[in-house]
Amino acid sequence: MHSLIIFASGRGSNAEKIIEYFKAGNRAKVSLIVSNKQDAGVLGIAKRENIPFHIIDKDTIKSVEFIDLLNTYNPSLIVLAGFLWKIPDALVAQFNNKIINIHPSLLPKYGGKGMYGQHVHEAVINASEKESGITIHYVNNEYDKGNIILQAHCNVSSTDDANKLADKVHQLEHYYFPLAIDYILKS
Ligand code: GRF
Repeated sequence: MHSLIIFASGRGSNAEKIIEYFKAGNRAKVSLIVSNKQDAGVLGIAKRENIPFHIIDKDTIKSVEFIDLLNTYNPSLIVLAGFLWKIPDALVAQFNNKIINIHPSLLPKYGGKGMYGQHVHEAVINASEKESGITIHYVNNEYDKGNIILQAHCNVSSTDDANKLADKVHQLEHYYFPLAIDYILKS
C-alpha cells in the first residue's frame, strides 16, 4: 500500500477528501499529517481519523531530523494541501518528483509569493477574468513553478465575489485532487 504524507496549514477540507477517497480501497493511506499551525482544522481531522500528526516550525522544516521522520513513513507522495510555507530546497531534493501541490488558480496566472487563499480569488475577480480553476503540480525550488499535472477550469460570472469563486474552486479541488493522486500512484 502506498503511503501519503499530507502537509496542510488550514481547515483541511482537501486533506479530508483525500483521506476519504483512499479509505475506500487499499491502494494508499494517509500515514502522517504535518502542519505548521497548532490550531489548524486539519489537526482535528487527523485526531478523528487516528492519523499521526506532527507540528513543525521554521527550524524543524529545515532539519535533518524532519527529513528522517518523513522517511520513516516511506512516502510515495508528499501532498501539499493548503500548506503555506515554501518547501526548503533540501526537502525538494530529498523527495524529488514526490511532492505535489494544489494551487487555486490556473497557473502561471495568479501564482507566486503572496498568492494564496482569498488573495488569489480577489485578484481574479479584480482582473474581471472570465474563468479560473485549479492547478495540481510538482513542487520544485520556485513557488508555483513545477511541472503541471492537471488543470481544471470553472467560469467566473460577473456576480461572483471572492467567496463565491472560492467555493467553486474548492469543489474542483475536492473532486480532482484525490483523482490526480490516484493517477500518479498508478503510473
Ligand atoms: C485550497 O484552496 C488550496 O488550493 C490552497 O489552500 C486551500 C486549502 O483549503 N492552496 P483546505 O484547507 O483544504 O480547505
